[in-house]
Amino acid sequence: MEKTQRKAIKRLRGMDDILPEEVLLWQQIEIMAWELFTQAGYHEIRTPVLEDTELFERGVGEETDIVNKEMYSFEKGEHRYTMRPEGTAGVVRAFVENGMSRWPKPVKLFYKGSMFRYERPQAGRRRQFHQMGLEIFGLDSPAADAESIYLAMKLFEQLELPNLSLEINNIGDPESREVFRQNFRAFIEPSLSKLCETCNRRYESNPFRMLDCKVPECKAIYDGEAVSGFLAQEWTSEASQNHFLDLTDILDELGIPWKRNYRLVRGLDYYTNTVFEITSTNLGAQNAVCGGGRYDRLVEDLGGPPTPATGWALGMERLVSLVDQKVETPVEYYIINDHPSAAMQVADVIRQLGKIVEVDLSGKAFGKQFAVADKRKAKYAVILGEEEIAENKVTLKDLATGDQSVMPLPGFWEYLEALSLVEEAGLEAEEE
Ligand code: HAM
Repeated sequence: MEKTQRKAIKRLRGMDDILPEEVLLWQQIEIMAWELFTQAGYHEIRTPVLEDTELFERGVGEETDIVNKEMYSFEKGEHRYTMRPEGTAGVVRAFVENGMSRWPKPVKLFYKGSMFRYERPQAGRRRQFHQMGLEIFGLDSPAADAESIYLAMKLFEQLELPNLSLEINNIGDPESREVFRQNFRAFIEPSLSKLCETCNRRYESNPFRMLDCKVPECKAIYDGEAVSGFLAQEWTSEASQNHFLDLTDILDELGIPWKRNYRLVRGLDYYTNTVFEITSTNLGAQNAVCGGGRYDRLVEDLGGPPTPATGWALGMERLVSLVDQKVETPVEYYIINDHPSAAMQVADVIRQLGKIVEVDLSGKAFGKQFAVADKRKAKYAVILGEEEIAENKVTLKDLATGDQSVMPLPGFWEYLEALSLVEEAGLEAEEE
């Protein structure tokens, strides 16, 4: 009876495979970021993907879209679990749980990893996506906000990201937000009948977040002159205004252009004073490559001692889509052999020169092995046949010119070392 092929299983909507060729670029960006952050005194932290649901309810905020409708949560036994939708809450939990408040301040951390949000998938908005972020604990100075922004901009400059702009806002401390809350409620009340259901709900629970609404009719009202004028009045405290002025002075001195966006409130509830986003017009509707700000109350809200903090996270998928580079790791030496253990040992010797060496593992005729070396676009074939093994020698073939030389195995490493020095010198001359 004919065997029917079984149905293939597809990946989940909004969750992508990152294929080897693209992973090379991801790795290069991660290495660049690792060097930049480590050299600036930041240390990597790795926290679990799964956390107690309450962490995000309390950390990110019950009224946010993330907690309301985007979390992947499930129950097991008595417990409620959530796949992390962002990195900050977990890092703060780890900070509190591991007594990091007793570490010498500031505590400067960075992280990378998968995040999960049940959003409607589209370009730049995935259900599983990756963030890289950094957080500074224990400093309330504007300089800490400035350094965090500076490092993000530095990374983007090294990666030559196109058409970036930094939008920044001061949303005040919790006390002045309370003043704003009351004033804004009174101000916007006459427009409530023209605003959407969510805005009406947020009017009661968290009027601040109304400004984040994407419904066109609401957006038109918030973009209008009346609301813009209301927001541009400085309703934050003097200390908060000074913080903002000092921060923007430092940015000016560093030559980092910025633009104030009074409507920038961000989708997470933990922010105080500084909030910012770095966008690129080369991205589509989801144009923010990086977002962050100050969150001076979160450590306390999650059970730690009062600790000011600031930081940001960038979206790797969006970042990678902006990087105009291709990374390749072509095989340099391909070992054609009928003796795998000897081939693996010779490969190991060549790899000590930092070369990419692949051993043919097929056991097929040498003609077929050569065909694979060609497909791999290898530069050299190293041939280890019966004769070579018996006489403790190797044959090296330049696959571009066809030149072939036989040499004793002792001394082969030195020969290759000299060869690679000649090649490097050639490359340098070409570059000049
Ligand atoms: P966020 O703005 O929610 O902030 O996310 C930061 C970045 O992650 C965004 O600017 C975007 O590039 C990327 N991102 C967010 N959602 C998605 C998605 N569904 N698909 C693809 N990329 C996405 C935070 O998460 C804060 N924890 C940042 C922070 C750190 N604030 C202070 N410290």
